[in-house]
Amino acid sequence: MQTSEDKTEALKQRIDPERVPRHIAIIMDGNGRWAERQGEHRVVGHANGVRSVREALVACREIGVGYLTLYAFSTENWKRPKAEVDALMDLLVRTVVGELEELNANGVRLHTIGDTASLPEGCRNTLMEAIAATAKNDRITITLALSYSARWELVHMARTIAQEAKAGTLDPEGITDATVAARLSTVGLPDPELLIRTSGEQRVSNFLLWQIAYTELWFTPVLWPDFRKAHLYEAVLDYQNRERRFGSISEQVTPG
Ligand code: IPE
Ligand code: IPE
Ligand code: MG
Repeated sequence: MQTSEDKTEALKQRIDPERVPRHIAIIMDGNGRWAERQGEHRVVGHANGVRSVREALVACREIGVGYLTLYAFSTENWKRPKAEVDALMDLLVRTVVGELEELNANGVRLHTIGDTASLPEGCRNTLMEAIAATAKNDRITITLALSYSARWELVHMARTIAQEAKAGTLDPEGITDATVAARLSTVGLPDPELLIRTSGEQRVSNFLLWQIAYTELWFTPVLWPDFRKAHLYEAVLDYQNRERRFGSISEQVTPG
């Protein structure tokens, strides 16, 4: 009988190692609904989402993805009830502390994007320590988007550029794509080739607007706490079946 591990392995074997995305971004959604469906508090869904983070990270590592970026808490999520926000911050700290050894054992570098200055102090300190402790790891970079929104990031970029122009250190005529990209919180990260969103919602919810200009989008009804390695492999296989034209025509992107 074929077990679910066999099925996961079979999916993985079908992936073309030459065309694995370098960077996968995930909007981890559906924790609240997952919990409510079993009569539990929303926070139980967040706690159960930690396993899915582990699964996504291991799956990425196994197929050679270099960057995994996870939307963990948006600027707009601060509007949620205080008890839920507090529970999420607490879960973040406990997870980072609990996983640190495993991250180091597997060459995982931890990174964050977003307005981390707005996080509670204890949370910020834990993150800073974990970032420093994993800084030399180079197998895969996991980036947590925390208190992040793309509009926050774009406004910040516009302010920086305006200040530099005013100070005379930047010529407005010389502004290019690279000038903008260098002033976003994702500086140093390649643009994601693939963006996954769970829970059936088909929207971007203020995530990486600049960076996903040509990203392939993959939506699944699976709720985040049910997300497993097999789902990530399915998304990569779907991605590998697409033709990325970047505005050109088919003949130009597939020689011969
Ligand atoms: C995603 O799950 C986690 C965060 C946004 C922090 P949700 O909490 O949004 O779950 P749903 O969408 O309400 O089910
Ligand atoms: C997006 O999910 C933010 C994260 C996954 C962290 P939301 O649940 O906050 O998005 P909306 O409200 O459904 O657009
Ligand atoms: Mg949601």
